[in-house]
Amino acid sequence: MAIHGLGGLGHLGLQFAIKLGFETAVLSRGKEKEALARKLGAHHFIDTNTADAAKELMNLGGAKVILCTAPNGKAISELVSGLSRDGQMIIVTYINEMMQFSPANLMRGSRSISGWVGGDPEDALRFSVLTGVRPMVEVFPLEQAALAYEKMMSGKVHFRAVLKMGGR
Ligand SMILES: NC(=O)c1ccc[n+]([C@@H]2O[C@H](COP(=O)([O-])OP(=O)(O)OC[C@H]3O[C@@H](n4cnc5c(N)ncnc54)[C@H](OP(=O)(O)O)[C@@H]3O)[C@@H](O)[C@H]2O)c1
Repeated sequence: MAIHGLGGLGHLGLQFAIKLGFETAVLSRGKEKEALARKLGAHHFIDTNTADAAKELMNLGGAKVILCTAPNGKAISELVSGLSRDGQMIIVTYINEMMQFSPANLMRGSRSISGWVGGDPEDALRFSVLTGVRPMVEVFPLEQAALAYEKMMSGKVHFRAVLKMGGR
């Protein structure tokens, strides 16, 4: 299994994949993300800044599932070739841009692409409690709500901003 993007969704997707027993590769950028991926249990890390991620996935035997959380249509398009036979690409990132896929590329390996949007979180929460999966959040006092919002909007928060009300 491969997780594309190691942010809010990716760091949870990675933990779920590990707890479910998948051999898991993270496709992300830079040493900091590699350290986090390894800390959360990733078996492989592919730096998308320096490597051809699809080729590296094929070197590992191809991904049965690629969970796409990184909001970059071009990068996602290029990953299709990293799917194994019958591999599935599941797009959970929200991007409003056109993507290019070769139908022949899909056909040749009986590969498929689908999208998914979260619904009832009960199963995920129960699974997290049972297995110890936890989100990484930054806690801000309520007085710093503006800073928390700014960090969230600029994608700098790790990985969700939580506001804490003093004394409650
Ligand atoms: N389907 C659903 O139910 C659902 C639920 C919540 C959110 N979403 C959507 O999912 C997307 C991700 O949300 P999030 O909270 O995970 O966002 P996030 O915390 O900003 O994480 C996105 C990650 O993607 C990485 N990334 C961007 N371009 C990349 C590339 N070319 N190669 C590798 N990594 C790349 C970023 O890494 P860098 O740090 O290196 O930039 C960042 O860590 C958003 O579009 C959001 O709207 C969907």
